[in-house]
Amino acid sequence: MTTEQETVAPETTEATAARPRNSERNAADGGRTVESGSQAVLALDNVSYSYTKGGKKVIHGLSHAFEAGKVHAITGPSGAGKTTVLSLLSGLTSPTEGRILYKGADLRQTDRYDFRSHDVGVIFQSFNLLPSLTVEENIILSMDASGKSFERPKPEIVRGLLAKVRLAEEYANERILHLSGGEQQRVAIARALSYGPDVIIADEPTGNLDLDTQDDIMRIFRDLAHDEGKCVIIVTHSPDVARQSDEVFELAPLNRR
Ligand SMILES: Nc1ncnc2c1ncn2[C@@H]1O[C@H](COP(=O)(O)OP(=O)(O)OP(=O)(O)O)[C@@H](O)[C@H]1O
Ligand SMILES: [Mg+2]
Repeated sequence: MTTEQETVAPETTEATAARPRNSERNAADGGRTVESGSQAVLALDNVSYSYTKGGKKVIHGLSHAFEAGKVHAITGPSGAGKTTVLSLLSGLTSPTEGRILYKGADLRQTDRYDFRSHDVGVIFQSFNLLPSLTVEENIILSMDASGKSFERPKPEIVRGLLAKVRLAEEYANERILHLSGGEQQRVAIARALSYGPDVIIADEPTGNLDLDTQDDIMRIFRDLAHDEGKCVIIVTHSPDVARQSDEVFELAPLNRR
């Protein structure tokens, strides 16, 4: 069993906060500087997981820290456990062994519903938007579900979110079924951001998009991390997307563990 000191915050937090970071990426981003130091927001601490009791472990003793202000890419071959790791990080499932730490606290000891509805925004591969509802209705639904109170009227917040994901204001009243895949991806991101989570998690967010749209979606994720200090975690098969991320966490194939 690894100790907390070896794997995650608070020690990691202080150590990483002290060192300069992302210099290469900042240059690639046009020299933008990062104001805040990095922080381990979410961490896997010696996590194992099997889908069935006593069955084979699809995740085995995994430790990794995910920091604020960074885009983290999770890569690895099909079946390596990427989606499983996202389910664990988003509090959808609990590890069989080990811990998921959010700001240093074990998710098992915190209200997971609260974590999922306030602290983490998940963008599913299939978007999970309601097709017959409008863009605005979809986004407001998730704001309502979070149970949070908002300082500004919700439609006004929606307009701000659409600007952030570079969708014209007119889209607010468009039904999801009239949108292209890339447009739906933007709505899914806007919805995940709607209640102001610290962590954004996305499974293959650029999987079905053309290269220009892919680059634009990656730019949105980088802005969220670099300008707003979000911790962005994405699964990708694309080396190009991995290159545009700040950090790559590669999962080994199951049979090589
Ligand atoms: N619901 C489930 N019940 C049982 N086994 C599962 C379940 N979901 C996934 N697995 C198994 O867990 C392992 C990891 O699956 P996972 O979906 O996390 O892989 P992945 O890296 O996301 O793959 P891909 O790149 O194909 O999406 C695989 O061996 C898979 O068969
Ligand atoms: Mg997967």
